[in-house]
Amino acid sequence: MVVPSGQGVKTMGVYSDRVLPRILNAAGGSKRLDPLRRRVCEGLAGDVIEIGFGAGLNVPFYPSAVTSVAAVEPSDVSWKLADVRLRGTNVSILRSGLDGQLLPFADDSFDAALSTWTLCTIPDPLAALGEMRRVLAPGGQLLYCEHGRAPDASVRRWQDRLQPLWGRIAGGCYLGRDIPSLLHTAGFEVPKLHTRYLPGPRPLTFNYWGIAVRSPQ
Ligand SMILES: C[S@@+](CC[C@H](N)C(=O)[O-])C[C@H]1O[C@@H](n2cnc3c(N)ncnc32)[C@H](O)[C@@H]1O
Repeated sequence: MVVPSGQGVKTMGVYSDRVLPRILNAAGGSKRLDPLRRRVCEGLAGDVIEIGFGAGLNVPFYPSAVTSVAAVEPSDVSWKLADVRLRGTNVSILRSGLDGQLLPFADDSFDAALSTWTLCTIPDPLAALGEMRRVLAPGGQLLYCEHGRAPDASVRRWQDRLQPLWGRIAGGCYLGRDIPSLLHTAGFEVPKLHTRYLPGPRPLTFNYWGIAVRSPQ
């Protein structure tokens, strides 16, 4: 399924629709993140669904074992910004959905799912994880890299303090989501979980990444 554009999806005004996607493209495109993106993507193979595809910043790191990618992304501006990366790859990538919370695919459709710095922004992350679990084939892997709830109480207090302002300037991004807990609640086993602060302000940069596997029921 190919979707023409994000028209019809709730829009938030000029800043969210036109400015923020460019900020995310610039910040997320930092070379400092390349090694992490490479590590997260290295296990991808077969037919893949990427939730919150953004400007396609993971595309250069898709391994050759990837056959196709269904890109789910609500922002038309981000999709346009992805064009340069779409033209630089041989992988077949189709914009295939607008909302990770409601995926237009049959059960068991994909070999792998990818989500990088997206679960923070999706309004109902459990719905999105439930949908990823549903469309993954049995044993299929979700490769994830997300920022979230910090382990240090002092940092968590700052996450709470900053949340109202941060949510407004960062497109509804939540600083304190407990990623492992969300994965488990959504029915994933989590055989691989790495955590650490990335460079930058600590309330914004505690990262979780690894592999989650669709658990048998
Ligand atoms: C912080 S950006 C990350 C983009 C990209 N994954 C990366 O690693 O650079 C979050 C992305 O999630 C997208 N997004 C927001 N709500 C979404 C939803 N309900 N379903 C899918 N993607 C969503 C945003 O448009 C944005 O592109």
